[in-house]
This record gives sequence, structure tokens and C-alpha cells, in this order.
Amino acid sequence: MRVTVISGGTDGMGRGTLEARLRRGDEVVAIGSNPAKGRSVQALSDRVHFLRADLRSVAATRRVIDVIRDRWPTVDALVLCANRQSPRRVVTDEGLEQTFALYYLSRYLLSHGLRDQLDAAERPVIINVAGVGSTRGSIHWDDLQLTRRYGMVDAQLQAGRANDLLGVDFAARSGARARYVLYHPGFTRSGDLSTMPAAVRGVIRAASVFARPVGKSVRPVVEWIENPPSEALTANDRGRPVPPSTGTLDPATARRLGAVTGALLTRLHPG
Ligand SMILES: NC(=O)c1ccc[n+]([C@@H]2O[C@H](COP(=O)([O-])OP(=O)(O)OC[C@H]3O[C@@H](n4cnc5c(N)ncnc54)[C@H](OP(=O)(O)O)[C@@H]3O)[C@@H](O)[C@H]2O)c1
Repeated sequence: MRVTVISGGTDGMGRGTLEARLRRGDEVVAIGSNPAKGRSVQALSDRVHFLRADLRSVAATRRVIDVIRDRWPTVDALVLCANRQSPRRVVTDEGLEQTFALYYLSRYLLSHGLRDQLDAAERPVIINVAGVGSTRGSIHWDDLQLTRRYGMVDAQLQAGRANDLLGVDFAARSGARARYVLYHPGFTRSGDLSTMPAAVRGVIRAASVFARPVGKSVRPVVEWIENPPSEALTANDRGRPVPPSTGTLDPATARRLGAVTGALLTRLHPG
């Protein structure tokens, strides 16, 4: 039986992917922080396993990776969906800005941390659901934790660009067998708006009549799990391929971010 691990598998597009993969017969491991949402996905089938973890924490992310390594020696697909908007700058116990920690670092840790389990699969694939194709935002090299000037959109865009670079560097240098897919689903009728100011919530709800249904947005994800691409890296923005020559996918910049991230993680947890 194919094993699919989904970070943020309890809601939105992560849950949409979980439901579709269940119908295809997979065993699905869903990671999320809210136990009620976890119970709700577990009730769908005994092939769903909920692992509770706060992925803003590097230590908690490492613990959940250890649990997966112990229980599932083979992982066929890893789908990265966990994210949450943060209108205010929030610093985690580990001293990290939480959008950077959740939206980018947890994906870095899961991608690299489950490498052996993915390598054990016949045709492994990692699908990072973020914002590839957009060229907005940048990496604030001198202030990754956005201490000087924080904005919710800026933090989201920085982490989005960092995920693009994670995919590029993973495909180029990890030596792993897993194919890496960067996917931009477009404006979708999902997303937890509870952390947003009421006015912003209202605007997004009004605009959501134009949003794509979850089932449509996750269809390519479900298919990539069934049939992983043959290329080491695939970048797809709402159905359109994103050329590797796009500035946001620059290999040297990706290498630089990989090195900076490695050093940051070593500083956090030496040894
Ligand atoms: N929706 C859109 O229009 C849109 C457009 C472009 C790109 N995207 C990207 O697509 C991805 C999926 O978005 P979505 O709309 O499906 O999101 P969503 O509906 O808000 O779901 C987010 C998931 O992340 C989990 N999560 C949030 N904080 C967590 C934490 N601290 N620890 C562990 N899990 C956590 C949530 O579970 P818990 O609540 O249990 O923690 C939930 O399962 C995101 O990366 C988003 O940036 C979305």
C-alpha cells in the first residue's frame, strides 16, 4: 500500500489531497496542530494516521520526523501544505519568526529528514504547495527573521521564495531519488482565516466566489503522487510550467539559502 505523508493534511488542500488519495487506496499520515481536525480526518478511515505537531517548532518537527521514520520505513509521497498567515510578528520559543519557521523551515526539515524513507520507495515524490511562478517578494538575507520591518504579506512572500529555492537546491544537490515538485495552486477556496483582522477576512470571503474549489486545485497533486514526473524538478503555476530560467529559481541563490539554513539549524541545535 502506498504511503503518503501530508503536512497540513487536516484542512484545506492538504485534506483535499488526503481524501483523494484515500479513494486511491493510500495509507495517509496527516500532520497538523489541532486535535479536533485530527480526529475529523481519522474518522474517515483506519488508513488515516494523525500526528499532532506544532510545525513552527524545529524540535517538534524533528520529533514528528522521528515518529514517521520509526513507523513507516517507506514513504512514497510527501506533500507540504502547512501554513498560516500571521498579521503580527510572532517569535517562537526557538527565536524564529513563525511564518519563516512554519512555511519554510518545517518543509526544509521534512524534505531532508524523510529522505531515506522516500529513497526506499519505488517512485518517490515531494510536492511543495506554495507560490512558485510568482516573482514577488524576496529573501531578506540580512534579516531573515524580519526583525526590522515585518508585514504579513512580506513574510509569506519571503517564505514562498524560500520554498522555491528549497526545491531547486534539493533537486540539484541532495542526491535523493525523490522527484521535487513546486506547485502554485492559485486562489483556492481554502485557508484558515481565523488569524486575520475582521476587515481582511470579509474581503477574502467576498472574493472567494472567484476562488477555485479545493478538489480542482489538488487534482494535479493527486496525479503527481500516482505518476511522479521523471525530471528531478518540476515547477508548475496553475497548470503552466514555470521555466527553470526564472529568476526566482536561480541555482546559486538556492545553494546559498541551503547553506544559510543548514548553519541556522546547527546554531539552534548543535550536534
Ligand atoms: N488558499 C489559497 O488561495 C492559496 C493560494 C496559493 C498558495 N496557497 C498555499 O497552499 C498551501 C495550502 O493552503 P490551504 O489554503 O490549503 O491552507 P489551510 O486550509 O489554511 O490549511 C493549513 C493546514 O496547515 C496546518 N497548520 C497550520 N499551522 C500549523 C502548525 N503550526 N503546525 C502544524 N500544522 C499547521 C493546518 O492544521 P491545524 O489547523 O491543525 O494546525 C491545516 O491542516 C499553503 O502553503 C498556502 O500558502 C494557498
